[in-house]
Amino acid sequence: MTRNFFVGGNWKMNGSKATIDTITDGLNATKVPEGVQVVCGAPDVYLTYAQSKITNASVQVAAQNCYKEAKGAFTGETSADFLKDLGVNWVILGHSERRHVFGESDELIGEKCKKALATGLNIIPCIGEQLEEREAGKTEEVVFNQMKFIKDNVDDWSKVVIAYEPVWAIGTGKVATPEQAQDIHEKLRAWLKAEVSQEVADSVRILYGGSVNGKNCKELAAKPDIDGFLVGGASLKPEFSDIIRARE
Ligand code: G3P
Repeated sequence: MTRNFFVGGNWKMNGSKATIDTITDGLNATKVPEGVQVVCGAPDVYLTYAQSKITNASVQVAAQNCYKEAKGAFTGETSADFLKDLGVNWVILGHSERRHVFGESDELIGEKCKKALATGLNIIPCIGEQLEEREAGKTEEVVFNQMKFIKDNVDDWSKVVIAYEPVWAIGTGKVATPEQAQDIHEKLRAWLKAEVSQEVADSVRILYGGSVNGKNCKELAAKPDIDGFLVGGASLKPEFSDIIRARE
């Protein structure tokens, strides 16, 4: 089964109208290869601005988070319904920084996945182990447990793109080797086969995230179970165009 290559950008809490102008000029000028999907996670306050600046039909905008409730007394939160209303069709959920800086639990991330899907959004749930968990030989246990909370809340896998982001590789310049990433992606696919179905295991895109850049992307993209990337720092730079073309 062919899985279309997917390149996600995660701008995190960075940017301004001026820097978004520069980034979107670069995206608009990028010749996105046939079949490659590009989705950029902008800060909530700039979602509409980013949308208004993107003219490249192959590039969409994502939110970086949303809450599990539709509306109400949840000061400071963004609902999936707000995103839908803005014409934003993608949301990143359970990013490592949401888990480890803001203390989001597996349960909450599962509930957010459920709500976002029920609202009609496509989701990019993130999973990944911390360094001490890898060193203790617990990587599989950790990521399979995170996957379980996601799986229990997904009914339509065609709207899900998983991002495997080992925490020790995020923003550190210490990228996983292509072999390390492929190893976990292959195991995640086997887990999906056992826990969901062969069809879902074959069709769901699994992205790698963590210090991906214009130089290391090609080798990672050549691995059979790496279906694209979720890119932080390099998504703010011109080299993001090289990452979009990693499979060329
Ligand atoms: O979501 C993307 C991410 O956390 C990786 O960040 O800066 O290591 O590419 P970075």
